Amino acid sequence: MKKIKIIFASRGSAAKTIACYIAKKLQVNDDDVFNVSAHELNSNDIIFEHLILVCPTYGDEELEEGMENFLIKSDWSKHIGLTFSAVEMGLYRGYDSPLLGAAKIIQLFLNKQGLMQSTNTLSLDSVPSVDFSILEKWLTNNFRNHEK
Ligand SMILES: Cc1cc2nc3c(=O)[nH]c(=O)nc-3n(C[C@H](O)[C@H](O)[C@H](O)COP(=O)(O)O)c2cc1C
Repeated sequence: MKKIKIIFASRGSAAKTIACYIAKKLQVNDDDVFNVSAHELNSNDIIFEHLILVCPTYGDEELEEGMENFLIKSDWSKHIGLTFSAVEMGLYRGYDSPLLGAAKIIQLFLNKQGLMQSTNTLSLDSVPSVDFSILEKWLTNNFRNHEK
């Protein structure tokens, strides 16, 4: 099984709830879940084989600031060839297109750094409440071997 770490950015509390839910399901230790909005972090500080990034959308194609800083300020050269998953959150019910979310930016940026997205992007409705049924399905489909 791949060593998974989870990064989340947040202004409220939804991303943390989602990151912790994923961690519990995939048996990732609490110590391996990082809040990049609260603490400055460089990807060099963490060792992983697969990185899950959980990020709310704040405006069309806008990342939460902590995630943006984490992506830009990190040196990704040690992680070339490793894999990641992007979980974008926001208001999806009623939106015509989910294509303007945070994940697209994460994906483009990390691809440029030489990392590969190995799961489909999860566009997770988190307003007014998190759609845990979609999250469950995504985890089952993409991380079957990791789940408890
Ligand atoms: C000022 C503001 C702007 C937002 N912009 C968007 C947006 O453009 N698209 C979207 O899907 N959701 C948008 N949202 C919804 C947030 O992504 C959503 O509330 C998310 O769950 C917040 O996560 P957090 O509590 O971890 O910060 C916005 C929310 C706020 C407060």
